[in-house]
Amino acid sequence: MIRVNENYGKLQASYLFSTIASKVSAFIEANPDKDIIKLGIGDVTKPLPAACIAALHAATDEMANESAFRGYGPEQGYDFLREIIAVNDYQSKGANVAANEVFVSDGAKCDVANIQELFATDVKVAVPDPVYPVYVDTNVMAGRTDIFTNDRYQGLTYLECREDNEYVPELPKEPVDLIYLCFPNNPTGATATKEQLREWVDYAKATKSVILFDAAYEAFIRDESLPRSIYEIEGARDVAIEFRSFSKTAGFTGTRCAFTVVPEECMGYAASGEAVPLHAMWNRRHTTKFNGVSYPIQKAAEAVYSDAGKMQVKELTDYYLKNAALIREKIGELGYHLTGGENSPYIWIKTGGDSWEFFDKLLNEAAVVTTPGSGFGKCGEGYIRISAFNDYDKVVEAIERIKGVLQ
Ligand code: MLT
Repeated sequence: MIRVNENYGKLQASYLFSTIASKVSAFIEANPDKDIIKLGIGDVTKPLPAACIAALHAATDEMANESAFRGYGPEQGYDFLREIIAVNDYQSKGANVAANEVFVSDGAKCDVANIQELFATDVKVAVPDPVYPVYVDTNVMAGRTDIFTNDRYQGLTYLECREDNEYVPELPKEPVDLIYLCFPNNPTGATATKEQLREWVDYAKATKSVILFDAAYEAFIRDESLPRSIYEIEGARDVAIEFRSFSKTAGFTGTRCAFTVVPEECMGYAASGEAVPLHAMWNRRHTTKFNGVSYPIQKAAEAVYSDAGKMQVKELTDYYLKNAALIREKIGELGYHLTGGENSPYIWIKTGGDSWEFFDKLLNEAAVVTTPGSGFGKCGEGYIRISAFNDYDKVVEAIERIKGVLQ
């Protein structure tokens, strides 16, 4: 008899964004004439930057030519991309990351989901609350939690992000081994200062824990004093793994390209106490389970770092930040407490009421899709998240409709 992984039985019925997609589909079916505006899932709407498209075309032509054709590439990514990432995203900003520490992949979601398999099943995991659901669900699947009761998985340590701590969690009160952090934060849009990250790095060093730092939204940081990478903090190479993505930066949500940095000094520990390099483990995992991102896509990602690419990417992120500023201003004028939207594409709005009811109200009465805060965790109850990823005109229209419903 083939037995199943019963940890799946502990999961909530469906993944947050799948639940929202089903509700939206049902709404569209019942209201075929309504023009729906999606400010829910953080999916970009603007086309790829011209520099990326040109590189993609040229690389595709190479694949049509027998002398330039390429089959399997290196699982970790082509050197041309790993090197340009290490130089531009890290070394030029004073963060010490080498090309061989960059692992190119098809998405930060997959990487943050897969990385937990490097760690023992009984490690104590700390996640922010509210949280990007992938961190939680993948640990549930792996059996690191008990059942879900009182809106929380037993066995997980929740790091509460509330109005009074400006949505930046405090250090845990109980010992933990694996810590997920995300800045600029999804879903709250909150950012962390260097001093705040330093506390976490010091904690991880003192407790031999590891920080999984999700920096998928770093390209939206405009405040020069804020850290874009955890490796800007001294000592972080010993205790932190960082995830980045071209999805929100350069519009690659449908194209798929991301990377994970695992420094050579970053260690886990065997039961004997012996230090084990996580770089070697991740390399082993990546080469066994992944066959690399396609050559044309990696060439398109490389073009992000060309002069034209840098300019075009900045234009794209500026565009979404302009949407974010508008949402902040107009929803703020309605009297709601909100955060995010300044160095982040997400705006986190305190509605005070039931999150799903608020979501349903905006969907049914304004035909605007948002994300209910409670879908990100218990501390998200009473909030909704609005994403700035859409066309400016649609954002203007969505705000008018929301105002019509809420005023
Ligand atoms: C979100 O809306 O939270 C993100 O788009 C989800 C993701 O990147 O997977």
